[in-house]
Amino acid sequence: MMTYRVVAIPGDGVGPEVVAAARRVVDAAGEAFDFSVEWNEVEAGGVAIDAHGVAIRPEDVERCRSADAVLLGAVGGPAWSDPSAAVRPEQALFTLRGGLGLFANLRPVTVHPALVGSSPLRAELLVGVDMLIVRELTGGIYFGNRMEPDGRKPKRRAFDEMPYEEREIRRVVKMAFDIARSRRGRVTQVDKANVLATSRLWRTVTDEVAAEYPDVELGHQLVDSCAMLLVKQPAAFDVIVTENLFGDILSDEAAVLAGSLGMLPSASLGRRRATHGVFGLYEPIHGSAPDIAGRDRANPIGTILSAAMLLRTSFGRDDAAAAVEEAVSRALEDGWRTRDIANAADTDDGLVVGTTAMATAIVDRLPSHVGMPS
Ligand code: IPM
Ligand code: MG
Repeated sequence: MMTYRVVAIPGDGVGPEVVAAARRVVDAAGEAFDFSVEWNEVEAGGVAIDAHGVAIRPEDVERCRSADAVLLGAVGGPAWSDPSAAVRPEQALFTLRGGLGLFANLRPVTVHPALVGSSPLRAELLVGVDMLIVRELTGGIYFGNRMEPDGRKPKRRAFDEMPYEEREIRRVVKMAFDIARSRRGRVTQVDKANVLATSRLWRTVTDEVAAEYPDVELGHQLVDSCAMLLVKQPAAFDVIVTENLFGDILSDEAAVLAGSLGMLPSASLGRRRATHGVFGLYEPIHGSAPDIAGRDRANPIGTILSAAMLLRTSFGRDDAAAAVEEAVSRALEDGWRTRDIANAADTDDGLVVGTTAMATAIVDRLPSHVGMPS
């Protein structure tokens, strides 16, 4: 039997609950499709600061590097968010993303038909929504020089620089074009080229890459108008490629289409291959949600769908990935809801459940329980 190696990073807040839920689903998929997963757990974020004084230890980054993939829950929380703190939980994400060369963050946004009513947008706007946000993940303002607030009132100052090099832009834009070829063949590159120098470099480099992909249609869009069109005409987008901060903001906005931030998965990839596929780090796009942590209330679907991306991309197991996605769809069709995606009508029929029961509903719909898919 094939054995894959995954590092699980539960992290903080609801992270441990959603990672536990996704692990159950992956293990059940393994039973159905005849593979096993050797799980290794690593501390990162606030829990690592408490235990070791750093957001993630170098040896733990190495453990991640030598696995086939990493599944992460969330990091951060009020206990570690003092603005003057020298170590912050989020540093674990930047160390992992930068240290493991994960320069592209893929955030697919689709609307499950059963959840159309969970979005505040009108149903007719949601028909046909199927986009992929490709966010540059290891450059820009997240990694530039910065100066923390300094000086005395009223002259305190601070700055954050947004540097980009051509090669950082080219590699992620190429990935976006490659992916667009297997989708609807349309790339929208998003920037603020009317103001920012880095954005003008993004446009130039993207145009050069586009010349190598005559079969893919390219459009440029300013980030402010893109933010508007995302809610006005969301179905018009196929692949969006953009720099780190814009991608962070636009993907939370796009989550509204899917009904909840809790629904959306992500994959962070680089160029490195692991034994069975591309090495990657997979995590839901939501954060640690400290307000509901430890109460079995978080929606595990974003993490479970991230695990499906892991199965497909890092294990090369399309069969198991598709089965997990199908099981999620069927659980939703059958009416199962966590609170974030429930509306008044759902509350009446008793299918509004917690994290664990939602994971069980999904596990129950995997092939080993319901027969092989036809
Ligand atoms: C995300 C998150 C992180 C980011 C935070 C927690 C630092 O918002 O993955 O989207 O901004 O990258
Ligand atoms: Mg974010």
